[in-house]
Amino acid sequence: MGINLHRAWRAGLLAAGLALAALASSSAAAAEPPVAAPQPAAAATPIKPVTTFNVLMVQFVDQAADAIWDAGATPPKSNCAWEQVENHAIQLATTGTLLRVGGTGPLDAKWAATPRFGLLADRMSDYAMDAAKAARERNAKALKIAGDNLVANCETCHRNFKPDIPTQNITTHLSHANPKAAPRIECQDK
Ligand code: HEC
Repeated sequence: MGINLHRAWRAGLLAAGLALAALASSSAAAAEPPVAAPQPAAAATPIKPVTTFNVLMVQFVDQAADAIWDAGATPPKSNCAWEQVENHAIQLATTGTLLRVGGTGPLDAKWAATPRFGLLADRMSDYAMDAAKAARERNAKALKIAGDNLVANCETCHRNFKPDIPTQNITTHLSHANPKAAPRIECQDK
């Protein structure tokens, strides 16, 4: 084989090899998932609580529960007032779930990791869902029972876990804690 012929032959081999490699890499690329494929759940960004349990208690739990207790004592007369009770009950039930997630307060992670705390948070959600159902069905008696179950459950959890002074020193100002607070104005149907 002359030297030129040998070069040409090698060049041919090289070209064939490159073509093969390209083919192989293109078939490998075809086997890979598309770039925009949905990520598995494990790759989801971690849950990042944005507030403390002390704030959740005062600005969510207490606000929502107060509306349920008010309506338990004086049943709503309008549809929109019943709907507000249902809204508050669903909000309270959801806060039970948030208490399972944890918060940014100094003791929140410890509380959230305690099985009994989780059980009592779940129970709050269950009674709140009972209150939501009672409101949907305009059932004042069932609403009162759900409200009574809720109070007992708040007190059980507080006896077990709540420090004498809240971790951030935030306390409630709602009517059930302060008799001088302004009464709630009931929603009127149009
Ligand atoms: C799963 C346990 C748990 C349940 C259920 C619970 N709490 Fe709490 N609550 C706590 C803890 C713990 C604190 C203290 C938070 C802190 O200091 O960081 C607290 C604090 C509070 C505070 C702020 C302190 C104060 O005395 O003003 C209010 C208000 C409150 N809870 C209301 C309620 C109401 C109303 C319910 C029931 C509808 C309820 N909580 C149910 C655990 C619970």
